[in-house]
Amino acid sequence: MILRMLQKPRGTRDFLPDEMEHRREVEGIMRGIARTWGYREVCTPEFEELELFTIRSGEGIVQEMYVFEDKGGRMLALRPELTAPVLRMYVNEGRTLPKPLRWYYAADCFRYERPQRGRYRQFWQFGVELIGADSPLAEAEVIILANEIFSACGISFSIHIGHLALMRSMLQNLSPEDQKKVRMYLDKKDEEGLTSYLSSQRLSILCEKVTALAGCRDLREALEITGDIPERERILELFSILDQSGISYTLNPGIARGLDYYTGMVFEIFAENLGAENQVLGGGTYQLAHLFGGEETPSCGFAIGFDRVMVARGEKIPLRDCVAGVAFTPEGRDWALAVAREFRRAGVRTELDLSGKSIGQQLSRIARIADFALIIGKRESERQLVTIKDLRSGIQKELDLPDAVGEVTGSGPR
Ligand code: HAM
Repeated sequence: MILRMLQKPRGTRDFLPDEMEHRREVEGIMRGIARTWGYREVCTPEFEELELFTIRSGEGIVQEMYVFEDKGGRMLALRPELTAPVLRMYVNEGRTLPKPLRWYYAADCFRYERPQRGRYRQFWQFGVELIGADSPLAEAEVIILANEIFSACGISFSIHIGHLALMRSMLQNLSPEDQKKVRMYLDKKDEEGLTSYLSSQRLSILCEKVTALAGCRDLREALEITGDIPERERILELFSILDQSGISYTLNPGIARGLDYYTGMVFEIFAENLGAENQVLGGGTYQLAHLFGGEETPSCGFAIGFDRVMVARGEKIPLRDCVAGVAFTPEGRDWALAVAREFRRAGVRTELDLSGKSIGQQLSRIARIADFALIIGKRESERQLVTIKDLRSGIQKELDLPDAVGEVTGSGPR
């Protein structure tokens, strides 16, 4: 009987060790920077009560999620993002902690989407949430932090920043449903759809102003289009902090953000060398805690699409650890184990050959995976020595154990 070769589920990926090491290296860069800004890691469950995600966004979002009923009849969802879970955790566990809280996460999310390059059903986000700070300085902090992370990741990117108050002022007389529709067209950057929707609703007069505002790239001009708005000073202060900080960005009042919880500043980052799925970060200011039983807690944050950052970086071969392979005869076994233990103690990746074949056969396998071969036979075992072969140069030496370890640790990474 020929069994079918089983495959991974659609929209998911496997990662071999080289790729995993590259991912961990980049994740380490992100973690390191977040840590120096005072952000500390948090972790929430992979699945939550479905209501956590529908309470703000409505039932429509169920189409885009992995939703299931457990054996106890509870409706659960695999998390499509982490802002709602993290704020739920804040309300459950963190309300009494001194604010603001600076938290970060590196975790996987699940969305039932049509898979393509850069868009997966299981994907990873690296995100930060700055909880309980309500100021332009807090908003500037998360934008500048994001800028620092992307600069350190070595990709070309552009930052687009908007503020929902600008567009809100244009749409304030529309019904909530019309406002939502307009935001959806703006989010999709579908100008044609927006124009025909507004004219079908007899709102053509608005169309010109809305598209002019969405296309405006100058703050003073944007504020002229909107007329006086209560958030004016706050917006001016945010952009003046950003200008002082020297980061480069583009004003974009057309940013609407897909998720429904944003209240003020919104921002997105795009990688320059990606195709259609080039948005590598989404974030902004939001209010969620009050929906989960807490007090109103203004917060801001962002999530980076980690997998897209990896695609943008391209194939990079990470520095590989130096590897030592141990070939040994049956009489040498116990000394081989002791030698391997000493090399590992010194931090060297050391693999014992497990085949039990001849030294020659062991060496030809080791030559494919290692930088050094450690050969242990009867002689080495009796004299407590190591025959060490540098597999790149072919040079072979007989050394005592400390010198053999020094030979490998002094050779540097590959
Ligand atoms: P989001 O824009 O929905 O925001 O997702 C953030 C990033 O995750 C996106 O910019 C994109 O790079 C990546 N992403 C989204 N869907 C996929 C997918 N199917 N495959 C690969 N990457 C994807 C949020 O999730 C908010 N929670 C961000 C936030 C944090 N706002 C405030 N704090």
